Amino acid sequence: MTADRADDRPIGMFDSGFGGLTVARAFIDLLPEEDLVYVGDTGRYPYGPRSLDQVAGFAHEIARYLVDAHDVKLLVVACNTAAAAALGTLRAQLDVPVMGVIDPGVRSLVRATETGRVGVIGTVGTVGSGAYQRAVESSGAAVDLTVAACPGFVEFVESGETDSDQVHVLAERLLAPIVEAKVDALLLGCTHYPYLARTITDVVGRDVVLVSSADETAFEALAMFHDRSPAPDEPALAPAAPGRTGTHRFVSSGDVERFRDLGARLLGPELAAAERAPWSP
Ligand code: DGL
Repeated sequence: MTADRADDRPIGMFDSGFGGLTVARAFIDLLPEEDLVYVGDTGRYPYGPRSLDQVAGFAHEIARYLVDAHDVKLLVVACNTAAAAALGTLRAQLDVPVMGVIDPGVRSLVRATETGRVGVIGTVGTVGSGAYQRAVESSGAAVDLTVAACPGFVEFVESGETDSDQVHVLAERLLAPIVEAKVDALLLGCTHYPYLARTITDVVGRDVVLVSSADETAFEALAMFHDRSPAPDEPALAPAAPGRTGTHRFVSSGDVERFRDLGARLLGPELAAAERAPWSP
């Protein structure tokens, strides 16, 4: 079904920092007519080692800001840790549709495997929440899942260090259970990890397919806009007017100049400026 009306309000998206830019890239490429407001909560990253309750508090604060200050029509939780902590309560409390990255990632993962031996890596918070274990189980796929937490990976990405010897040494240690399990598909269950793809591949081997949730999440948004009617309990959603060129705004709760500089390196030229989040320290 194609929506017969246009809605030029922006899509809202957030992450603890730079990681969600992997998801933003996929949205910008796949939905070029949509406006986007991205929040990187760099003043409070990393989320991974924090309690799920605290991360849920941050997620609700940012979601409220995106809805109230930017009037977003769709909220994308481009952070696995925040999705593990708060996707359900965000969906229950907000009047706009809310998408996470966990279910789209699992769908790609189970499609990618041939042997049925799959892996997921994520932050301590995400892995400890059991969200991936539950999502794989409810996908109904007959796969053998190995999960590993990778504390420290996010900090390397946030410091702009994505393929140093130090990251490699850490990856060798943290990915040992994945290598041992002989998986043939590995889901990067943290949106920062695609920036470490080269190091991760060096460690797990070129024959392991690395799966990221970014593209699948963007394709799901495309389908929500253009191909399907909302479920009865889902708020309606309409795409931006065809042919328009979307604008992209970036908000950071940390050092905005650093966010712009490193963000532009990671995302590309769309990140030409960054604004200060109202809750910045
Ligand atoms: N990108 C976030 C995720 O997907 C990283 C969380 C963190 O800040 O530790 O989980």
